[in-house]
Order: sequence, then C-alpha cells, then structure tokens
Amino acid sequence: MQGSVMILPLVILVIIGTIWGLDNGLARTPPMGWMSWERFRCITDCDTYPKQSISEQLYKDMADQMVLEGFAAAGYEYVNIDDCWSAKERDENGRLQADPKRFPSGIKALADYVHNKSLKLGIYGDFGTFTCGGYPGSKFYMQEDAETFASWGIDSLKLDGCYTSRGDIPVGYPIMEKFLNLTGRPILYSCSWPAYLPNPDYEAIAKSCNIWRNYGDIQDSWSSVVSIINFYGKDSGNFSSVAGPGQFNDPDMLILGDFGLSYNQQQVQMAMWSILAAPLLMSNDLRKIKRDSIALLQNRGAISINQDPLGVQGRLISTKGKIQFWSKPITPKGNYAFAVLNLADGGSETLVPVNGVALGILDNRGYNISDAFTNKYMGAIYPNKNLPLTVLPSGVFLDNDHWSLIALASQTMATGHIFYLYLR
Ligand SMILES: *[C@@H]1O[C@H](CO)[C@@H](O)[C@H](O)[C@H]1NC(C)=O
Ligand SMILES: *[C@@H]1O[C@H](CO)[C@@H](O)[C@H](O)[C@H]1NC(C)=O
Ligand SMILES: *[C@@H]1O[C@H](CO)[C@@H](O)[C@H](O)[C@H]1NC(C)=O
Ligand SMILES: *[C@@H]1O[C@H](CO)[C@@H](O)[C@H](O)[C@H]1NC(C)=O
Repeated sequence: MQGSVMILPLVILVIIGTIWGLDNGLARTPPMGWMSWERFRCITDCDTYPKQSISEQLYKDMADQMVLEGFAAAGYEYVNIDDCWSAKERDENGRLQADPKRFPSGIKALADYVHNKSLKLGIYGDFGTFTCGGYPGSKFYMQEDAETFASWGIDSLKLDGCYTSRGDIPVGYPIMEKFLNLTGRPILYSCSWPAYLPNPDYEAIAKSCNIWRNYGDIQDSWSSVVSIINFYGKDSGNFSSVAGPGQFNDPDMLILGDFGLSYNQQQVQMAMWSILAAPLLMSNDLRKIKRDSIALLQNRGAISINQDPLGVQGRLISTKGKIQFWSKPITPKGNYAFAVLNLADGGSETLVPVNGVALGILDNRGYNISDAFTNKYMGAIYPNKNLPLTVLPSGVFLDNDHWSLIALASQTMATGHIFYLYLR
C-alpha cells in the first residue's frame, strides 16, 4: 500500500506545478536538512567550546554524520549555517567575510566540502543593518551579498529580519529575491518576513520566498512545540492556503535528539511537521544523537507524508476537548494522512471515537487505515461509523490510508502516530 503512495504522484505534481509563487525550481517538496541555530546558537568561544562553536569544523562534522548515519539517504540534504558565522566587519571592499578564526578555510571551501558529499550548503543573513546576533546585515548591501553568496556556491539563504523597520520588510525581501535571481545560481530563499509582522500578506510572501518563518523561534521544550502547533491550528489569515510546491510555511527546526522532548513528544513533532508539509530542518548534535531519535527522523512513512508531491499543508479539522484531528490530502488524489493529537497531560489514555466526519473525510466507499510509522494495517473507517482509537497523553496517532468505517476493536496507540488513509 505504501509503495503506491510514493510512486503514483509524479503526474499530479506536473499538473499542479506552481502557478503564481516564486519560480526558481527549488523546494518542490519541503526542504530537508540540518540547521545550527536551535542547538548551537551563537557559541563563538571556540577555546572553551571547541566542538560546539559555530565553525567550519561543526558544519563539516554534521555533513559527515548526515552521510554516515543515513540522513542523506533518507532525504536530508541542506547543511545550514545560521547566525554568528561572519566577521564583525565587512572586508575592505564591503564584502561579507567569515570569521577568520572559526572558518580559516572560508565559506567557499566549506561549500566545496559539503558539495563533495552531494549535500548543499545554506547560509544566514539579515535584511536589516545587523543580524539578530549583531553581525553585519544586508541593508544597503543586498546585491553585493547575493553575489558573494552565489560566488561561494551557497544553495540556500535564510534572511532574518532584525534591525529594520516593519515598513521596510515587505519592500526589502522581494528585492533580495531579485538579486538572488540575477546571480543565476538557484538559491533556496527562506524569509523571516511574516514572523516580524502582525498581518503579513502571505500571497506576496509566496511570490518571493520558498519558505518562510511565521512564528517565534522554537525552543528546546514541549511547551514550545505545542505553541507552534496551536499557531498552525489557528491558521490566522489562512496561511496554509498558500503552501504548495515551491513554497512552504516553516514552523521552525526539528528538535528531536535534543534535551527537551520525551520519546513520544519527539514522535509528535515528527508526525505534526509531516502533516504540516513543514521543512524538516533538524537542529541537534548528530555526533551524539540516540538511535531512537534517528529512527524517528528517518521514518519512511512520516517522510513520505511530509514529502508528498501535492505539497498540501495539513489543517486542524476539528477538536474535541484536548484532542485535535488533523488531516492532509496526499497522492493519489482522494487520499489523506491524518493525525489524532492528544494534548491532555492528565496521565491516562483517552478513548477517541473517530469517524470520517470528524476528519472531514467523507467518501462513502470508506478508507483503509494503516499506521504510517509502522506501516501496520489497522482496518477501515467510514464517514459515519466510529472507529475507536485510544490515544495516550501528549500523543499523536497519525494515519494514511483510504479509510472506511468498519468498527474496529479499540486499539491503544503509542503516542505520536500518523496514519495513512487510502480510499477503498
Ligand atoms: C571529495 O571526496 C573524496 C572522497 O569521497 C575525497 O577523496 C576528496 O578529497 C574530496 N574532495 C574535496 C575537495 O573535499
Ligand atoms: C529567475 O527567475 C525566472 C523567472 O521567474 C526563472 O525562470 C528562473 O529560473 C530564475 N532563476 C534563478 C537562478 O532563480
Ligand atoms: C482558505 O483558503 C482556501 C484555499 O484558497 C479556501 O478554500 C478556504 O475557504 C479558505 N479558508 C478561510 C477560512 O478563509
Ligand atoms: C483495503 O483493505 C482491504 C481489506 O484488507 C483490501 O482488500 C483492499 O485491497 C485495501 N484497499 C486498498 C486501496 O489498499
């Protein structure tokens, strides 16, 4: 069953295409990779923290680990430098330059190293006069900086929005897009534009950016993950509707393998980021990560839902107390992935009778359900018959299969599952 999900979709991808968004050929599905910020922040004291500092060695180590530990084979591709990589001053020609102590070989050599592993290198800049960490910003230097990044072989740019005025943001971000385009090098463009504005114009953003951050930075905690999920559930301004091949909302980095989440909470983040068609940008220490976190990050079912070529962002369909029902259309047409997310912290399981109506899934032929993480077939579900599921606290049950409502015996799910629903 799962094979058919992953193979059929190509035709549909071609038909849908990007009709009106930024067209640089990139991010046809949500980008996958690694990014330094959440885990390594702005650590620059390399004498005290030689292995943790923002340095060329850190990114080389992560590129090595991405290949060695199977992440590259699972689809993770970008190695993204975040803030605090540059020297505090531009060079005598006004060009950005890497910190000479921490990046003695320079960014071009790092890009060569990463490319040699068939990976891509991303970098960080800021639209304002300074980056959030106080390094030189791109205001008044946008064309120079776009050219510098292209000359180094950069494949992705995250442009932050500190140290500028709100009024300049909707004007300035598209200008950088033009300059990136003029370099002739395809560079994935990640904008922090909506994160700095109260009522962002998402259609304008999608015309200029491949991905964009629309909420505060993720922190290493469950409460942070939940606040992001709830922001996406509200979908204020209908931002989910502009997502599609070439452009995606970015709920920020994956923190699986860090310190803040239990195993089940890690599974929830993986499941929900898959349902949301979110960029899968890990921020963790791949030199130390535990096997169970690796398995979740590389789970084929979750990744196939995330990378589904329709590129539709899943939505919160209904809620019942602390239980949320999310679904995401996937290929082949008429099929869905769904998640039943339990945000209760009461310590016991909750029995959730699920039917097609609760999930907005209404075809009377019904759907087969299987657990996307394990590929286990669970039965069928129909629009008006209840399927009893038991969801553990802080858990999500994620499925993807045509589902039809044959009543199933109650099944207790481990937390953090997604389901495939295949139309019968
Ligand atoms: C590229 O990788 C090969 C091994 O895969 C290595 O021998 C070569 O030195 C590398 N080149 C660079 C520029 O890193
Ligand atoms: C530049 O923009 C044009 C028009 O949208 C597009 O066809 C082309 O692929 C872009 N080039 C790059 C390098 O982004
Ligand atoms: C959001 O946008 C979608 C697609 O354009 C549309 O079908 C839906 O009705 C919109 N929802 C709201 C609440 O405006
Ligand atoms: C749904 O499940 C039934 C019963 O196991 C099976 O015969 C059928 O082939 C499945 N349909 C799909 C589309 O997977």
